[in-house]
Amino acid sequence: MNTRQVNIGIIGGGSMCKLHSAAYALAPLYFSPAHFIPVRKLLCDIDLDFARHSADRYQWQEVTSDWRELVLRDDIDVVDICTPNAFHKDIAIAAAEAGKMIYCEKPLALTAADAAEMLAAARRNGVRTAVAFNKRRFPAVVYARKLVDEGFIGRPLAFRGVFQSSFALDPNVPASWRFQKKIAGTGVMGDLGSHIIDVCRYLIGEFDEVIGSSEILFAERPRAEGARGIFAEQNVRSDSVPVDVEDGCWFLARMSNGAKATFEVTRLSSGKHDGLGFELWGTEGSIRWDQQRAMEIAICSEADAADRRGFKTVEMGGPHPYGNVLWEVPGFGIGISDIKSLEIHDFIHAALEGIPYQPDFHDGLQVCRICDAVMESIETRRWTKVSSSAE
Ligand SMILES: NC(=O)c1ccc[n+]([C@@H]2O[C@H](COP(=O)([O-])OP(=O)(O)OC[C@H]3O[C@@H](n4cnc5c(N)ncnc54)[C@H](O)[C@@H]3O)[C@@H](O)[C@H]2O)c1
Repeated sequence: MNTRQVNIGIIGGGSMCKLHSAAYALAPLYFSPAHFIPVRKLLCDIDLDFARHSADRYQWQEVTSDWRELVLRDDIDVVDICTPNAFHKDIAIAAAEAGKMIYCEKPLALTAADAAEMLAAARRNGVRTAVAFNKRRFPAVVYARKLVDEGFIGRPLAFRGVFQSSFALDPNVPASWRFQKKIAGTGVMGDLGSHIIDVCRYLIGEFDEVIGSSEILFAERPRAEGARGIFAEQNVRSDSVPVDVEDGCWFLARMSNGAKATFEVTRLSSGKHDGLGFELWGTEGSIRWDQQRAMEIAICSEADAADRRGFKTVEMGGPHPYGNVLWEVPGFGIGISDIKSLEIHDFIHAALEGIPYQPDFHDGLQVCRICDAVMESIETRRWTKVSSSAE
C-alpha cells in the first residue's frame, strides 16, 4: 500500500517548531497502519540563520525567511503556524486564500475580531483548520468528556480550572514577545488561560458571562530584542522596557448551562512550573485531573454505596482513549510530544478523509471571545457577557 505523503511548511523555528517536529516524526509510528506520512518539507523563520539552525536540528528539507513564499508554494499541503501570536492572522488568511490545510498555534489571534476574520477566510476558501489546543488530546481529558457525555457526573454544577507556571516570578526574565501586548495580545490569558478555557468548553460547553482580576508583578523587565522562547535569554540588554500584559489572572464564569466556573491562570506560582488541571463537580459525581499526573484521573460517583463513596484513581491504558495507539501499559506514561502527535494525526487524517475535526478556527474564535470578555471585565470591574456565536 502506498501511504500518502503530506508536505508540511512550518513558520516559526522556535520552541513549538521543536515540539511539532517531534510530533510529525512520531505520528506515523504510533498509528498503524499510518494514514499518511508527514514530510518536514520547508521551515520558515524571519531570521534565516536561525531557520537554517532549526532545519538542521529538527530535520527539515528546505528553509526560507519569507512566509509568503512558503504559503504560495504548490508543493506545500499544510501550513503550520508557530510564530508569535501577532503574526497568526495574516499568515492564516494568506494560507486560506492559497487553499492550504491550516494548523495554527494558540491563541488563534490577538482579539476575537481578528479571529473572526481568520475563520471567515477559512470558510470562504473551504479549507480545513485546526487550532493547537493540545490539552484536549490527553487520554484522561478525552475520557473525562466521555464520562460527562454518559451522564456519569449528572448535571454539571461547578468547574475549577487552573493553569499555573512560575517563570514570571523572576524579575530577570526578560521582556520577550510574551510580555508585550502588541505581539502577544494578552499575557497569561492567551498563553495559558486559552488552554484551560478550551478544556472547560470541551467538557461542559459555552460561557455566558465572566468577571476577573489580574496582576502585573513587575512593571518593567530587561529588554531582549528578537528574543524567542519562553525564558528568552537571547540578546538581553541592560536597560528595561515596560510590561503591559498580565502575569496572573483570576476569573469567574457563569456557563450557558447554569454551571459556575472559577479559573486561576498565572505565571507566578512558585514551585508549580507547568500545571494545568481541573475539578468538575456534578449532581451525580465528580472528576478531577492534573496534567502533572497525566495518566491518572480521579472519579467519584454518588451511585456508590454511602460507606465507600469517594474518589478512586483510574489509570489510563489499553481500554481508554488512544490506549491502542500509545501504550497499553499505564506506567509507561505520556508526554507533550505524544499528545501533539495525536493532535497532528487527528487533524490531518480528518482533513484528508473529509471528517469533522475539533478544535478548529471556530473553537479558536470562541476562546478569543472569552479572553476578550475577561479582559474587558477587568477594565470595567463588571460581569461581562461573552459575545455570542452566530457562526
Ligand atoms: N500549544 C502549546 O502548548 C503551546 C506552547 C508554547 C507556545 N505556543 C504558541 O506557539 C506560538 C510560538 O511560540 P514559541 O514558544 O515557539 O515562540 P518562540 O519565540 O520560541 O519562536 C517563535 C519563532 O518565530 C519566529 N518569527 C517571528 N516572527 C516571524 C515571522 N513574521 N515570520 C517567520 N518567523 C517569525 C521567531 O524568529 C522565532 O524563532 C505562539 O503562538 C505560542 O502561544 C503553544
